[in-house]
Amino acid sequence: MQINVALLGLGNIGSGVFRVLQRQQEALLERENVVVQIKRVLVRDVNKPRSVQVERSLLTDRVEDILEDPTIDIVAEFMGGVEPARTYLVQALNRGMTVVTANKAVVACCWEELDEAARKSGAGLYYEASVAGGIPVIGTFNRSLQANKILEVMGIVNGTTNAILTNMSERGWSYEAALADAQAKGYAEPDPSMDVGGQDAVYKLSILASLAFGQRIRIEDIHCEGITTITPEDIAFGKSLGLTLKLLAIGRVEEGRLQVRVHPTFIPDGHPIASVRRAYNAVFLHGDAIGHAMLYGRGAGDLPTASAIVSDIVMAAKNAGKHEHPAFLLGREQDALPLEKNWLTACYVHLLVNDTPGALASIAGVMGKYGVSLATVNQISRNTPVPLVLVTHPARELSIQAAMAEIQELEAVDRVVNVIRVEKEG
Ligand code: NAP
Ligand code: HSE
Repeated sequence: MQINVALLGLGNIGSGVFRVLQRQQEALLERENVVVQIKRVLVRDVNKPRSVQVERSLLTDRVEDILEDPTIDIVAEFMGGVEPARTYLVQALNRGMTVVTANKAVVACCWEELDEAARKSGAGLYYEASVAGGIPVIGTFNRSLQANKILEVMGIVNGTTNAILTNMSERGWSYEAALADAQAKGYAEPDPSMDVGGQDAVYKLSILASLAFGQRIRIEDIHCEGITTITPEDIAFGKSLGLTLKLLAIGRVEEGRLQVRVHPTFIPDGHPIASVRRAYNAVFLHGDAIGHAMLYGRGAGDLPTASAIVSDIVMAAKNAGKHEHPAFLLGREQDALPLEKNWLTACYVHLLVNDTPGALASIAGVMGKYGVSLATVNQISRNTPVPLVLVTHPARELSIQAAMAEIQELEAVDRVVNVIRVEKEG
């Protein structure tokens, strides 16, 4: 079967898709009986040099050349950002063209609109590459975990920040050098503040948690903190306590309520997620039947992402006329779990304090006032102000925030450097 595809974008990911399709042409025909024909490629600048050898006549900067071409079956999008991707994809779906996208921003922000357009026209909507690059995590949630009630999904879903934290931790690189390296390797978003600020992981958690928990989790429901304030000292202090720092995306059901949050997190070195290094991603999940499971692989980069995109294209070709759409969007609002903002968590607290009698007592006093109990206390040197690292027992998020607001006003406290949540052993 021949399937005609238009590519929207020929940057890092689009070039990867182009290469994989060339490389796998014969295998796709032999194994899947599918011939994928690239009919058009939309770019911003048709004269820009490309890293792949693409016929000039395929390139266009006019989306109409694609949307008005009745021979195109699938529009595969990797331009990035919400607009104009949203407009192009909705128009394509309205015209009955199936959409394959790697763009988590457009899926997370415009899911209802895309889904409605796909259902109405009977076209397919595929987005495996939008979360965790090459790891087949969307397919796993949609097709392999139906027998489970999902209790937790916890992931390293941003390759850029994981590569930065790994290089800062293992090679002693500065944050800036580590970010520049991730950009040079093509992991970072066109605007890397989306990675380091946590927004990219929020988009991905919005998609993952919606599928995992069967209710629409909007990006504005997700608590978000990035890694921009993390210092090499935090990473080193954590290491000395047996903790590894990761940017985690967490969706968890506790006491009948759902927490959805993205923030830097210390995890015990023995947790399976702690071993995930460089741009690798992992999604650790807990289902009531399967127990714990972890999906691991390359979460960013051209070829791993192209692997997921080409797989979606092949699946879309084989599903023509019988595409599936996830059921949670059909609206079971009454079954939705309430969202929890006051979760229970242990915390690492890094303070600079004046090394004077009573300093620790005043800090511990405030913690006690808010019901936050200390698990460990470490004073790191004798200079003043001196770094003081506390780890608390699990306490309510809002109690910790209230205690920290008061602690930073104490005379003994020079500065609160960081407060980082700590997960327990997996
Ligand atoms: P990129 O290198 O910046 O490529 C973007 C491409 O889209 C370029 O070819 C650009 O054209 C084209 N484009 C952008 N805006 C356009 C517009 N308004 N009209 C026409 N063409 C337009 O970005 P990327 O790294 O490939 O990422 C693309 C998407 O894949 C993003 O949604 C990203 O989140 C997602 N993704 C990326 C990765 C990764 O590892 N990088 C992994 C998974 C998913 P020109 O070349 O002419 O400028
Ligand atoms: N910028 C993203 C990351 C690309 O670093 O994970 C993969 O979605």
